Amino acid sequence: MKVSLAIVATLCIVFFSFQQFKIHSLKNDLKILASKQQEALQKINLGSDKEESKKEEEHYELALAMARMQTYMQKLHFAGQNENWKLAQFYTHELEETMEDIIAHNVVDEGQEISGLVKTMAFPNIEKLEKNIESENKTSFVKGYQLLLRSCNNCHVASKHEFIKITTPKTEDFINQDFK
Ligand code: HEC
Repeated sequence: MKVSLAIVATLCIVFFSFQQFKIHSLKNDLKILASKQQEALQKINLGSDKEESKKEEEHYELALAMARMQTYMQKLHFAGQNENWKLAQFYTHELEETMEDIIAHNVVDEGQEISGLVKTMAFPNIEKLEKNIESENKTSFVKGYQLLLRSCNNCHVASKHEFIKITTPKTEDFINQDFK
């Protein structure tokens, strides 16, 4: 009787210890699973972050910024022709801001560093033009304006868009603005 009681007790102890061991290893499994889930979630988040910033780059509307510059160049011409230096400074400043925006967005188009080209080819001519306008002299203005205009077209050639040719506007008849 005593012997069988001892056997039952031993069996109980063994069984209990085994259950404890199982609980312990299950807890460990849970921990591993939880950390794996965390990792997977982080990867998904990182992935979507990357996707977001990629989209940002792709989404820079270069043609819209260019169209804005074309309009400013057109208006700048008429402001200068009318010796309206305040208005000329205004449009030069708008051109400067648009170029700064292109530069800040690190635009790459078909493998070409558009922002870098804008910075080296055109931006320095904005600063020159600003100085020319300060002198309030039409000849000096035209010189600065033509230099900037040439850099627009030179950059179109450099960036394989030589078919976009910007010219000096001829008449302000069709523009709904008074430049005097
Ligand atoms: C990187 C050098 C670079 C400079 C500097 C530059 N452009 Fe451009 N321009 C481009 C590229 C590249 C495109 C084509 C954009 C595209 O593919 O969406 C373009 C497109 C254009 C377009 C076509 C969009 C339209 O609405 O018709 C115009 C206009 C234009 N540029 C005007 C100008 C003017 C004006 C200047 C100077 C004040 C200028 N660009 C300076 C590279 C340049």
